[in-house]
This record gives sequence, C-alpha cells and structure tokens, in this order.
Amino acid sequence: MTGSAETGSEAAALAEALGRDWYHTIDLAPGTATPGYVDLRANAPKVLPADLSGKRALDVGTFDGFWAFELERRGAAHVYAADLDSHDETDWPPPNRARLAREMEAANAVPGERFHLAHRILGSRVERIACSIYDLEPGRVGGGVDYVVIGALLLHLRDPVKGLERVNSVLADGGRLLIVEPFSPFLSLIPRRVALARLRALETNYTWWLPNIVGLGHLLRLAGFGELQRRAIFRPRTRDGRGPWHVAIEARVTARY
Ligand SMILES: C[S@@+](CC[C@H](N)C(=O)[O-])C[C@H]1O[C@@H](n2cnc3c(N)ncnc32)[C@H](O)[C@@H]1O
Repeated sequence: MTGSAETGSEAAALAEALGRDWYHTIDLAPGTATPGYVDLRANAPKVLPADLSGKRALDVGTFDGFWAFELERRGAAHVYAADLDSHDETDWPPPNRARLAREMEAANAVPGERFHLAHRILGSRVERIACSIYDLEPGRVGGGVDYVVIGALLLHLRDPVKGLERVNSVLADGGRLLIVEPFSPFLSLIPRRVALARLRALETNYTWWLPNIVGLGHLLRLAGFGELQRRAIFRPRTRDGRGPWHVAIEARVTARY
C-alpha cells in the first residue's frame, strides 16, 4: 500500500470508529477517543502497576479492550484479551435469555467487532482469544501469566468462584490478580465484617450478584487468593452518570485447590 493509501485507510478506520456506539472510552489518537459509555481512563493509573515490562498479562471479559490496551501501554510483553464470541455462552438469567438473544440479533451485535477496530487503529499486538472465564487453562494462554485483570465481570457470572478458580489455574507462581468490580455501598455499611451479596438476577438484564466489599474478598479467598489489598474505590464516569461504585482489589494466588 502506498503512504497516502495507508493514511487514507487509517483515516477511514478512525472515522468509522468514531461513528460507532462504544462501551469503553479508549484513546485512539492524541485528543481523539471513542465515544464510550464508560470512561475508566482516570481510574486506570490508580489501580494498575505503572510498569509491566516483560510480564505476560491477561484481561478477562475484555469487551472493547480498555484494560487490555492499558496493560499493553504499560509494557507487558504479551497481553491476552479473553471474551466470548457467542452470546449463547453468557450466563444470562434464564427468564431473560430469549428476549436478550432477540435484542442482540436485532442490534446486529458482533462480539469483538469494536475491539478489533480499536486494535487496528492502535497498531496493537494484544491477542484476543474467544474463551469463557470458565474455560481458562494454561494451554489457552501459552502457559502461566503474571498479571490478570477482571473488570465488571464477576457480577455477571452465575458461579463467580468457579470463574476465579479458572483464573487461579492460569496464574504463574507469584502472579497477581486485579479485580475491578461493582459493589454494594449499602451492604458494605454493615458494621461487622459480614460477607453479603444482593441477588439481582430477577430484576436486571445481566447482573446476578452485587456483593459488598467483604463478600468480594470471600469470593477471592474461596478460589485460592490471598494477600488482598484494596487499591481504590471509585465511581467511573459514565455517559448517563448512573454507573455503580467499583472497588479495585489486588490479590495473589496463595492456594491451589
Ligand atoms: C460489563 S462488561 C466489562 C468490560 C470490561 N472488562 C470492563 O471492566 O469495563 C462484561 C464483559 O464480560 C464478558 N463476559 C460475560 N461472560 C463472560 C464469560 N463467561 N467469560 C468471559 N467473558 C465474559 C462480556 O461479553 C463483556 O464483554
């Protein structure tokens, strides 16, 4: 391709990207970001290590890829971005399944499409893998990984402990997990250290659980994680200003069950 044709196709890709409806706000070029529903850009530096040079990293439930691209920007040697390629594999609550499948079909929503668009524009080397958290095993990510991010995914899983156990199985010894998950501020006010979660599956489209912070800690411990450190509590900027509060907790593998 000639230089001008290349520049033309880059400009076309950028124009196409800016016309889409995004979940994530992602910087694509200086001063140009995707018009995302959620903007985590100010939060990332507060919760991620500044330097991941040489590390093998994994973002589980990547969606448009925000966390995966942030891991790459911090120098990770290889970044995997796992998500589903089929809506059939989601844990949608049974009463919602048929309706949500119809809505997805009507919206012509193709999993990974926006990730690939951002990937191309950024010249990224992140490797997207079509893999459920429940199917993670070292063979899917080229052996053990050093750093894993799970963002806003555990609440959508019917069995979050099973998902976390699979994440445990792909972390190398000494590896770290960061969860950045919505939590219930109300249930976190309970004075004693009681692990609680609100069951939301009958009243929302996709959410199973809204735990309190202690509850999230218990989910991690049940799956063999320990040395928990709270990194931040924040409410990400969203288009409608209605996003939930999130907590970022870092943990290490302390047991393999
Ligand atoms: C609310 S979005 C969160 C996106 C991103 N991780 C973040 O923190 O902003 C949830 C993502 O998890 C994905 N997901 C749902 N079930 C999954 C599963 N079983 N395994 C892997 N990803 C899943 C969805 O497809 C979607 O991309």
